[in-house]
Amino acid sequence: MEASMPKRKEPGKSLRIKVISMGNAGVGKSCIIKRYCEKRFVSKYLATIGIDYGVTKVQVRDREIKVNIFDMAGDPFFYEVRNEFYKDTQGVILVYDVGQKDSFDALDAWLAEMKQDLGPHGNMENIVFAVCANKIDCAKHRCVDESEGRLWAESKGFLYFETSAQTGEGINEMFQTFYLSIVDLCENGGKRPNTNSSASFTKEQADTIRRIRSSKDSWDMLGVKPGASRDEVNKAYRKLAVLLHPDKCVAPGSEDAFKVVVNARTALLKNIK
Ligand code: GTP
Ligand code: MG
Repeated sequence: MEASMPKRKEPGKSLRIKVISMGNAGVGKSCIIKRYCEKRFVSKYLATIGIDYGVTKVQVRDREIKVNIFDMAGDPFFYEVRNEFYKDTQGVILVYDVGQKDSFDALDAWLAEMKQDLGPHGNMENIVFAVCANKIDCAKHRCVDESEGRLWAESKGFLYFETSAQTGEGINEMFQTFYLSIVDLCENGGKRPNTNSSASFTKEQADTIRRIRSSKDSWDMLGVKPGASRDEVNKAYRKLAVLLHPDKCVAPGSEDAFKVVVNARTALLKNIK
């Protein structure tokens, strides 16, 4: 009788993927790619002219991945050049500078530009997005905190990473998770894997946290009109407490928002007869 041999796992087929970088000029897109591919950092700003193209090979599980990277210029001047390159993309590295609020606020416009260029038949659901909150080494200048960035990314089902191209922090982790998610997506018939999806919190919770963050006073935080009664304040408080209680809500920033709501209610009730 023939001894049965253990089956050798066939090495996975090689895969070709296309990755692009997006985000405002100067946020560090090229430096993030350089840090990962060349293990170095250039402090002098050399703006990308149009597009920089590079090819690299990476190993993900048992698959060899050939990655075509299109590093885009963030300057609006290069819009015409960029819009040729959005199609057939499997992964996007979407970068902002944590010290530049404008670059964070611009993320929606970057998605809109991509969506517009892909046209009515383009499907953004089948693309893995890795949001990089970059330049975390410049802690003194930071004006977009982690929970704000994470909330934006995770409520869209995107991956979120805190990175520094200068020190290298977060860069390897970002690329490894990013490539793994793309391979999962390709093996999943083109559907985005469910990790980090928005399923863990609702749009209402995310929108409420954002609204509270941008509120100008305690009335605003509770969502009641100035001069509201004790009953109205308490009613609004109870609704928000149910929505944001840390035991029930895992959205980034919910704990802080909950505390803000508790303090706002206390402050208002002190002054209402
Ligand atoms: P465009 O090509 O014009 O769209 O810009 P970009 O997003 O590619 O920016 P680039 O990578 O060229 O970096 C812009 C400037 O920011 C350079 O001076 C970099 O040295 C600097 N920079 C990039 N990443 C970091 C970082 O993590 N920390 C710090 N301190 N500086 C960084
Ligand atoms: Mg660049």
